[in-house]
Amino acid sequence: MKLCVVGAGYVGLVTAACFAELGHDVTVVDKDLGRIAFLQSGGNPIYEPGLDELMARNTHAQRLRFTALLSQAVEHADVVFIAVGTPPQEDGAADVQHVLDVARQVGMYVRGFKVLVTKSTVPVGTSRRVAHAVAQELERRGLSPDGCTVVSNPEFLKEGAAIDDFMRPDRIVIGVPHGRGGERARQCMARLYAPFNRHHDRTVWMDVVSAELTKYAANAMLATRISFMNEMAALADAAGADIDAVRRGVGADLRIGNSFLYAGVGYGGSCFPKDTQALSHTAEMLGHPMKIVSAVEWTNQRQKSILLRHVTTLFGEDLSGLTFAVWGLAFKPNTNDMREAPSRVVVPALLQRGARVVAHDPVAMDLARCAIQEDLGRDAGRIRQLELVDTPDEVLRDADALLLLTEWKCFHNLDFERLRQRMRQPLVLDGRNLYDPEQAQELGVAHIGIGRRNALGAQRLAGAPALL
Ligand SMILES: NC(=O)c1ccc[n+]([C@@H]2O[C@H](COP(=O)([O-])OP(=O)(O)OC[C@H]3O[C@@H](n4cnc5c(N)ncnc54)[C@H](O)[C@@H]3O)[C@@H](O)[C@H]2O)c1
Repeated sequence: MKLCVVGAGYVGLVTAACFAELGHDVTVVDKDLGRIAFLQSGGNPIYEPGLDELMARNTHAQRLRFTALLSQAVEHADVVFIAVGTPPQEDGAADVQHVLDVARQVGMYVRGFKVLVTKSTVPVGTSRRVAHAVAQELERRGLSPDGCTVVSNPEFLKEGAAIDDFMRPDRIVIGVPHGRGGERARQCMARLYAPFNRHHDRTVWMDVVSAELTKYAANAMLATRISFMNEMAALADAAGADIDAVRRGVGADLRIGNSFLYAGVGYGGSCFPKDTQALSHTAEMLGHPMKIVSAVEWTNQRQKSILLRHVTTLFGEDLSGLTFAVWGLAFKPNTNDMREAPSRVVVPALLQRGARVVAHDPVAMDLARCAIQEDLGRDAGRIRQLELVDTPDEVLRDADALLLLTEWKCFHNLDFERLRQRMRQPLVLDGRNLYDPEQAQELGVAHIGIGRRNALGAQRLAGAPALL
């Protein structure tokens, strides 16, 4: 089939490369001319394991191409995917103007029957607005509005494992409208996704509004599990329990399962924060405020500064003369995405209090520097106190504390002996509960995690002097 994917971001590029790999002819469109030129020259603006190879192979086979000209790409396509961003607005609502812009343009250029797929995460009712925008343009051109059917096919991939998630999805949610156009679109989507359904049918068919809501419900549920465990972790600290033991005990219950039960420094990225906010906003608008979802967001915001609160408890508000080592800046491992990353709360706050910060991230350092400088606002000059270095080991030199913010594989094995030699103070603020507090204790390292800590860590928080 001939496909057009509008939006060359995480979702658009992964969708395009994966469908091209399955033999389809795919054109990717983006309004960002620089991004298109970069893609045309063989570059890839995002880091996603396996994506470079997939793009190179399919570009070479001429199944995948990039253009800024939406008109041509739409004209030749059977199916057009909208995969543009839906960023949050001031009031938390998702901004769907880019989605509607694309819809209008599709209406301007469409010829013959097309299926227009909303893959972007959009609030309930948006696909109906998309259909209306297309129909208006078609009518303006004297064409029948039946020339295009809008379906909802939300994307559930995770950055960092996006190719695998796309190629081996747990489920494929497709919302189709009633009527003849809906039936035609359903057949087209069934054909497109047939290779994913060979062993068993993973497609969950539903109406369009339910498909839109399913995406928000799924993300809100996952975010809820994380915030719930973060609140449990605070309680574990107060009660003297170990959240990791609690997690294992809870997750072993098959009704609950082990996923998304990890306490940490809060969730970030382009999806959970904006989607929970957008869901709250939709619920308010429809007269059904969702207290749980609002609490999930509130807890997460607070959680992002938990390590900072530990730092100020340990060292006071003025951090001049102190050096903090930071491992990990991206919002999660295997991505360079800095959107809503906890590091964007922690690092600027350390710098603003006069600290020097030395950090390492395997892939996000360039994007991180720009993002943190932006977050510093009128204190942008403090960026000079942020040093980004090439290896995790360099970060440790003469540091007063190590803050682990992202659980990249390269940070999993921490050599506590080495840490003692390199750092000014042997103190680990483990924002992802990666390290064994008791092993740290044996080697004289204070460990303060999220809902777990060793005796040295507890003593430090209680005001005991540093082991210098
Ligand atoms: N990133 C994820 O992990 C993920 C997962 C599932 C769903 N989603 C959803 O998918 C959508 C896209 O997310 P993303 O992370 O890929 O976004 P992104 O910001 O990485 O990419 C969006 C792209 O769309 C382009 N664009 C914007 N307006 C355009 C227009 N009018 N015409 C052509 N191109 C245009 C931008 O230039 C950009 O390259 C969002 O709604 C998001 O919520 C994202």
